[in-house]
Amino acid sequence: MVKPERGDPLKDITSSRGRGLRGKKVVLCVTGSVASIEVPALARELMRHGAEVHAVMSEAAERLVRPETLQWATGNPVVRRLTGETEHVKLAGEWEGRAHLVLVAPCTANTISKLALGIDDTPVTTVASMALGGRIPLVICPAAHEPMYRNPAVQANVRSLVERGVVFVGPTSEEGKAKMASVGEIVEAAIKVFSKQDLAGRRVVVSGGPTAEFIDPVRVITNLSSGKMGLALAKEASRRGAEVFYVYGGELAPPVGIRSARVRTTAEMRKAVLGELKNGQSDAFISAAAPSDFAPVKPAPRKIPTASGRLNLVLEPTPKIVEEVRRRWPRIFLVAFKAETTPTDSALRVAATKFRAKLRADVVVANDVSEGRGFGSDRNSVLILGRKKAFSLKRRPKEEIASRVMDEVVEEMGKHRVG
Ligand SMILES: Cc1cc2nc3c(=O)[nH]c(=O)nc-3n(C[C@H](O)[C@H](O)[C@H](O)COP(=O)(O)O)c2cc1C
Repeated sequence: MVKPERGDPLKDITSSRGRGLRGKKVVLCVTGSVASIEVPALARELMRHGAEVHAVMSEAAERLVRPETLQWATGNPVVRRLTGETEHVKLAGEWEGRAHLVLVAPCTANTISKLALGIDDTPVTTVASMALGGRIPLVICPAAHEPMYRNPAVQANVRSLVERGVVFVGPTSEEGKAKMASVGEIVEAAIKVFSKQDLAGRRVVVSGGPTAEFIDPVRVITNLSSGKMGLALAKEASRRGAEVFYVYGGELAPPVGIRSARVRTTAEMRKAVLGELKNGQSDAFISAAAPSDFAPVKPAPRKIPTASGRLNLVLEPTPKIVEEVRRRWPRIFLVAFKAETTPTDSALRVAATKFRAKLRADVVVANDVSEGRGFGSDRNSVLILGRKKAFSLKRRPKEEIASRVMDEVVEEMGKHRVG
């Protein structure tokens, strides 16, 4: 385990967003691609998920991003040359303080090819070569102009690295360039390297975010849900090996690699969730969405003029998706979120217990949303109520809550036979 130094002002963001890389030493190798301007943001995001980051640069990278910037971003000295200190051995040699992961981002076509052929003539190729020979996980995030990346020699070298167990993230083909994967995708791939694969072979449907109902063609009623909790759950299930289908409202799209459907209204969410469950392959439904519970009975076909003055809306309840799922799939593993405005923890527990019994849910996650608490924020306080145990998490990052919920899913689903 690597512990960040206490009180280091450059590292005060460590684990602020999640714990997926807590205690992990990540060597971030940077090569001479313009995508290296994304590296400070990448380093900071790895740290927000708990990593201790050490940057290593090639000479070509130094012309594009300043070593000082990477030193600030990581809070650690940057390796620019190999010296008598044998920096490559300190970072990736066979001793207990070595890196848990070597990440080359961005990785040039040049460096890909050198790694495939065992050529070590820069600090980056030497550290990555140590990883390849020393069984440290190696993740490569290529970036290049399209013709450079399509070069048959480079492609053959990519294949040979993949055959040796190297994980490639991206590139995405866009505007004639093989662009580096997004910071979010790279962090996701790094976390996956360390995630237990205890949901491998499982199919999980997750819903998240708000839905909105039309008053007229441009106005809606909705709620304050951001979709951060649903997204955290979808990512966590995917990291742990599940095949995830994420149905969501709102703006927060899942990373590439998670199958998803974006919806607007509760009716659309219902259709997408039921459509997936009808395939009969799903093991679990995790209902974290905040569907708009009411919809105007008669949405106006045209924009309602403000000159009309006071407006009376007649609302009707929308379909309860989670109840319908339980009715139609009585044996699916069901995790249901319940937002309550309750004054005390004990009142929340009573409400959650009733809700669990009514739905015959396997796990209920209840939270107090008085004064909009929990909505939109990166943290939340929840009560997790399983079949045999109940526990509270207070003001924890949503990623951590997702991980604890998934622990319950794995434990309970192990005992659960899906019919
Ligand atoms: C501004 C600039 C941008 C470049 N971008 C890339 C790139 O995205 N991908 C790539 O493979 N090479 C790129 N190159 C070329 C590499 O920097 C060059 O091949 C260099 O030798 C790579 O060395 P390295 O792999 O040790 O960093 C770029 C060069 C310059 C000057």
